[in-house]
Amino acid sequence: MRLLFLGDVVGRSGRNAVIAELPRLRQRWQLDFVVVNGENAAGGFGITEAILEELLDAGADVVTLGNHAFDQKETLVFIERQPRLLRPINFPHGTPGRGSGLFKARNGAEVLVINAMGRVFMTELDCPFRAIDAETMACRLKHGADAIFIDFHAEATSEKQALGHFLDGRVSAVVGTHTHSPTADERVLAGGTAYMSDVGMCGDYNSVLGMEADEPVNRFLTKIPRGRFEPAMGPATISGIAIDIDDRSGLATACASVRLGGALSRAEPALWGT
Ligand SMILES: [Fe+2]
Ligand SMILES: [Fe+2]
Repeated sequence: MRLLFLGDVVGRSGRNAVIAELPRLRQRWQLDFVVVNGENAAGGFGITEAILEELLDAGADVVTLGNHAFDQKETLVFIERQPRLLRPINFPHGTPGRGSGLFKARNGAEVLVINAMGRVFMTELDCPFRAIDAETMACRLKHGADAIFIDFHAEATSEKQALGHFLDGRVSAVVGTHTHSPTADERVLAGGTAYMSDVGMCGDYNSVLGMEADEPVNRFLTKIPRGRFEPAMGPATISGIAIDIDDRSGLATACASVRLGGALSRAEPALWGT
């Protein structure tokens, strides 16, 4: 099966690019399953229900979140009626919404998707390793699920790499989000798990993490807020990872990073041609 994951959609520029391109990509690459991280989709901060529905209509099967999950207060309410929206699984007990779900792909496969957040240089949450371990033990590859996809929203590369090795051979893919900058280490690990430390963002890379540079520069220089962080509005690069998953084993056979349009544009992923 062919799975596409897109990193943090930032503001209107990232949103417009994903909404415009995803239907075409689903067609051209014959995608079976699409996951999009939407934690910065609403002006850089969280997601609204209207934006969630635009992403789902464009072809996302599941939308994941991260530390910005509840920046829009309405999310606390609508997440309960939107089973395709996941927030990190290791948030405190009682947090609205859910951190994992089993979803049917276009090819009929049942895909377990888990969203989790790291703890290094981030808020103290429950242990993501143990939370994911419990979930994957309860719904094991080829027993409960045909494929298992993990969006690990974390700052530290060490924590991401450690999670990749911890789950290698037990899940189809462990990919990182949150830093908004793509790494060059995508590969299939020895046990058959596709891995990439960070897939980057869907947004304008002529910016600081998708935001207009003026205010971030000012804050580093003076430590005094002068204005708000505003999403950069130049052309977005759609960043993510394309993964081929073996239908029999549920493990990855190949993966390639995706960067389409905007400042980081590259050729299309080799594994699916053009
Ligand atoms: Fe983000
Ligand atoms: Fe984040």
